[in-house]
Amino acid sequence: MSPTSSSSLPSQPPTPNAWGAFNGTRRSGRTAQLLSLDDFEAAARCVLPRPLFGYVAGAAEDNQALDDNRQAFAELALVPRVLRNVAERDQGVTLFGTRYASPFGVAPMGIAALSAYRGDIVLARAAAAAGIPAVQSGSSLIRLEEVVAAAPGTWFQAYLPGTPERIDALLQRVAAAGVQTLVVTVDIPVAGNRENNIRAGFSTPLRPSLRLAWDGLLRPRWLAGTLLRTLARHGMPHFENSFAERGAPILSSRVQRDFAARDHFDWSHIARIRRQWPGRLVVKGILSVHDAALARQHGVDGIIVSNHGGRQLDGAVAPLRVLPAIADQAGDRMVVMLDGGIRRGTDVIKALALGARAVWVGRPFNYAAAVDGEAGVAAAIDLLRAEVDRNLAMLGATRCADLGPEHLMDRRGPWALCPPAARPSH
Ligand SMILES: Cc1cc2nc3c(=O)[nH]c(=O)nc-3n(C[C@H](O)[C@H](O)[C@H](O)COP(=O)(O)O)c2cc1C
Repeated sequence: MSPTSSSSLPSQPPTPNAWGAFNGTRRSGRTAQLLSLDDFEAAARCVLPRPLFGYVAGAAEDNQALDDNRQAFAELALVPRVLRNVAERDQGVTLFGTRYASPFGVAPMGIAALSAYRGDIVLARAAAAAGIPAVQSGSSLIRLEEVVAAAPGTWFQAYLPGTPERIDALLQRVAAAGVQTLVVTVDIPVAGNRENNIRAGFSTPLRPSLRLAWDGLLRPRWLAGTLLRTLARHGMPHFENSFAERGAPILSSRVQRDFAARDHFDWSHIARIRRQWPGRLVVKGILSVHDAALARQHGVDGIIVSNHGGRQLDGAVAPLRVLPAIADQAGDRMVVMLDGGIRRGTDVIKALALGARAVWVGRPFNYAAAVDGEAGVAAAIDLLRAEVDRNLAMLGATRCADLGPEHLMDRRGPWALCPPAARPSH
């Protein structure tokens, strides 16, 4: 199913609970044994060379933000309602006038074309085929024009420098490619401190070394199926979308990537982008209710509450913890979305119940692409979709819009909610 503009929605929607019947039958040999999103991580570890797996899995410094992204979900318990006839279920959501089949999408991830052959296209096409949104990263190795041609409707994420000429040139290129939704990531004024990348031997560009060659040789399927195939058919990958012009190659002993002036970027640049960008504008990396308010004042259409999957400021608050205040602040005036730590349908449900319109999933879809290309990503989407469907039913809900705080409880403190007068006297 493809995403449809609300104006062109089919008169007969697909069977609302079509996903509920899913039991893994669509999965091919490589993913047949993978029963949850976390299973894809273990499988990808066996496919990807150590530096690359380390880059995808890793986070900043001591993993406090990474770990708390999961912990925040674990602290919430679900409160189901029963006997509500949930036979007609539809987990679809509308974002900026487009109807999507599920309330989750593929988050932007750099260098995806090293995880899987043509990785950005794999992610975008699998998402489009499943009727969910995908965002192509600005740190990607395939020209955005190619990705949009392969999967029209793909969103584009930019890391913008604080220099107006370079911003303008990139915006013109993105608009000319037919991108309708631009995501500007704002939580990276400087690079995060990812010691684990250094330990795993990862850098951008990758530096040729005996160790790197050895790491590649230890993963022959990846070496032949992804790296050598890419080099043979497309030449050395470069950062194609950091600017209007081509950036650094992915492998080089000397070239430095150009991060110049990212730390100059401020709200005046968002104002400038808003004046120029004709499409939907989303700001990714908001964690403060004050910044959410500023985004709204600057005419931003949507925000992604995110700590970059714990990869930037270690110790940054988990997005789920600040989501209720931000969603409350935004009201109906801005679309609020969230990412970070979503691994289960119940995580999706919890974020929606706290006010997110949709959520984004990063690492698991990257692993899925590494494990089995487009089929792998399709399988991962199916798994998460089936979980959301099942969870909606068991909560007594038929639509995402039915979800609210009444479905949630602090796992550690239910007793405090029971006033003394309400307690039975035995
Ligand atoms: C390998 C990798 C590369 C990423 N590259 C980008 C990027 O280029 N731009 C961006 O805005 N976010 C990037 N992110 C962050 C994701 O978009 C998203 O915020 C994060 O992965 C969500 O957390 P999760 O992985 O726990 O789902 C990257 C994340 C990963 C894992």
